[in-house]
Amino acid sequence: MTIRFVEELPIEGRRTFIRVDFNVPLDGGRVSDDTRIRAALPTIRHAVARGARVILASHLGRPKGKVVPGLRLEPVGARLAELLEIDIIAADDCVGDGPRKLASDLRDGQVLLLENLRFHSGETANDPAFAAQLAELAEVYVNDAFGTAHRAHASTAGMVEHFENKGMGFLLRRELKHLGQLLEKPTRPFVAVLGGAKVSDKIGVVTALLGKADKVLIGGAMAYTFLKARGVEVGASLVEDDRLRKAAEILNKAAERKVELLLPEDHLVAGSLDAASGQVSAPGIPPGQLGLDIGPATVDRYCQVIAAARTVFWNGPMGVFEREPFAGGTVALARALAESGAVSVVGGGDSVAAIHQAGCADKITHISTGGGASLEFIEGKRLPGLVALEQ
Ligand code: 3PG
Repeated sequence: MTIRFVEELPIEGRRTFIRVDFNVPLDGGRVSDDTRIRAALPTIRHAVARGARVILASHLGRPKGKVVPGLRLEPVGARLAELLEIDIIAADDCVGDGPRKLASDLRDGQVLLLENLRFHSGETANDPAFAAQLAELAEVYVNDAFGTAHRAHASTAGMVEHFENKGMGFLLRRELKHLGQLLEKPTRPFVAVLGGAKVSDKIGVVTALLGKADKVLIGGAMAYTFLKARGVEVGASLVEDDRLRKAAEILNKAAERKVELLLPEDHLVAGSLDAASGQVSAPGIPPGQLGLDIGPATVDRYCQVIAAARTVFWNGPMGVFEREPFAGGTVALARALAESGAVSVVGGGDSVAAIHQAGCADKITHISTGGGASLEFIEGKRLPGLVALEQ
């Protein structure tokens, strides 16, 4: 697949639409984590430096086609202006007369930020008329929104066919390089660490990884569905009973393919999520108790596997890490990963937050800005946002 890079596109003096993923958390009307905004800066700075007339577009949250005042991009624009140290022109919509006039009045090197794309239902519906309205704002199209590349929406897919000059930005290129290496030639042993609440979210990626990774470590609540499928008592832990068969199939497939799929051998359990501390339980979990983190023996074993790995992909926490008493397993794995010296790629909001909480972000090879997008990429799916850019 050939995708042009922004450096190869004729953006000088041209209205250049850059689809970014500014879907960031807000708190009290301010951006509480600007990672995704910072990640898009190299492309925006490059475009400004080359005298492009920059039009930035993003979604924020899921307003479902309605104007939701709390999901306006104004706080994002304010943070972006601080980071870029230039004025940002803000539009109060993303299509129509107002944005069209603002876009056509842009001078070289100026930056216009459109309002939340998802205030229009045409965005997620990939409506051709809405896509055409977006497309008429610009002459060149750049996608730098890796986090949204798995969505076939108007701004990531539909509008792109209107452009001859289209390509990817620095962020998208970096994501493809690091995630692509996991699929192409990972240095072995290649270990995948998967956690999070639901097996159903991870079935595709676990199955795909059985053909690629040497070992798969499972943690988080999704482990209890696997353990139950194996006949282990899991007490009152979160289990997806409708996925037990699928979990059993995955365990069998791992055995057939001789991939070591490791499940927790002990757990930190408590009677409720609000408990101030947990007790260690092994190998199962007594009735009425909830598994809330991996136990100390599992932490040791998983950390040893990570220490011996040369490549690690991690998505999803090992326990309820947002509650301090149950953050230990996730934080220990984050530290082990940072110290392993392995090529490390981490995706998914919670795992990325855990890496920051453990203070080891600078030791990770690549922190992906995509949660769902990175999983679908690893699964081997063709992401609509990338397909649209192919020449
Ligand atoms: C994300 O945060 O994963 C992306 O911005 C995509 O958001 P969505 O899941 O609402 O499409």
